[in-house]
Amino acid sequence: MADLATPMSIRVAATLGLAERAGGAGATAERLAAETGTVPSALRCLLDHLVAVGVFDLDAESGHYRPTSLGAQLSEDAPEGIKPLLDINRAGGRADLAFVDLLETITTGASAYAHRYGRDFWADLDARPELRRSFDAQMSWRFRVQAPQIAQRFDWSRFTEILDVGGGDGTVLAAILHARPGLRGRVLDLAPTTTAAADRFAAAGLDDRAGTVSGSFFDPLPVGADAYLLSDILHDWDDDHARKILAGCRRAAAPNGTVVVIEPLRGQGAGTAMDLFMLMCFGGRERTVDELAGLAADCGLTLRGCSPVAEGRTALEFTVARRRPAW
Ligand SMILES: C[S@@+](CC[C@H](N)C(=O)[O-])C[C@H]1O[C@@H](n2cnc3c(N)ncnc32)[C@H](O)[C@@H]1O
Repeated sequence: MADLATPMSIRVAATLGLAERAGGAGATAERLAAETGTVPSALRCLLDHLVAVGVFDLDAESGHYRPTSLGAQLSEDAPEGIKPLLDINRAGGRADLAFVDLLETITTGASAYAHRYGRDFWADLDARPELRRSFDAQMSWRFRVQAPQIAQRFDWSRFTEILDVGGGDGTVLAAILHARPGLRGRVLDLAPTTTAAADRFAAAGLDDRAGTVSGSFFDPLPVGADAYLLSDILHDWDDDHARKILAGCRRAAAPNGTVVVIEPLRGQGAGTAMDLFMLMCFGGRERTVDELAGLAADCGLTLRGCSPVAEGRTALEFTVARRRPAW
């Protein structure tokens, strides 16, 4: 459980594309080293360890290393889709590497990601567009099954306009609008990601009902929508930031407006490893229904209902309370 040699070998193999390069026919360490610009003797050492742990096979006669069925999962087009989470040059793999600074997080409570890379996760994505693209793609891929479930299992039909706050590249909103033809919606997110959302809406023929707003959810939000959606947003943030986001939704919501929070809940879909990742990477956390309801209450939002909407995810529905909020 504490071995770092194996996880790092697998991540380096994914980053170098060794499974795709070797393919079914296999390849020698020398050829793979030439293709990847690495040192043959060092690469052989890596490959030999990957053979020892069952990720590659070695044909002793030809000297060809070939991915096993386990190793084939490292390929770009493997159905398991794990490569982006392992490739250390993409957002997911890069974020996971910050776990080596976990002691910093446990000692100070602060994000190990910022400690390791000198800026927080979102600033890092802003500074490196290729990371931003890989993150958006990963977010969309993770919801390939869940987005249609979210669209079907929650009653969106009573709304006329949704603002999907931090809606990424529009994967969730597009699924909702497909399922509910009477509905309009907009994604609010940071600038490069809203371009991806606009492209998605245009490609899906939704641009007459779907739009984008570039900006930060810490600034005043567009007013007057009857539903403000926060899907996998609050767990990226500590309590103070989460309250700011919720308070922004409450201020912008139409009278009788609704704020819908969709998250994995602590103990109901959110595993301990993901909880630790949220803390390590973002200084965020998975929360229980009571914890989310408490944060929302501070912001003048009252919990009206709570229902599972997708595997491992629950929708919490809040309405604007009459009394003046603390936030
Ligand atoms: C975990 S992703 C969730 C995306 C989408 N809601 C979903 O469920 O697929 C978090 C999103 O928050 C966005 N985000 C982060 N900081 C933001 C900010 N200050 N203002 C607006 N969006 C932000 C990110 O760009 C990203 O798209």
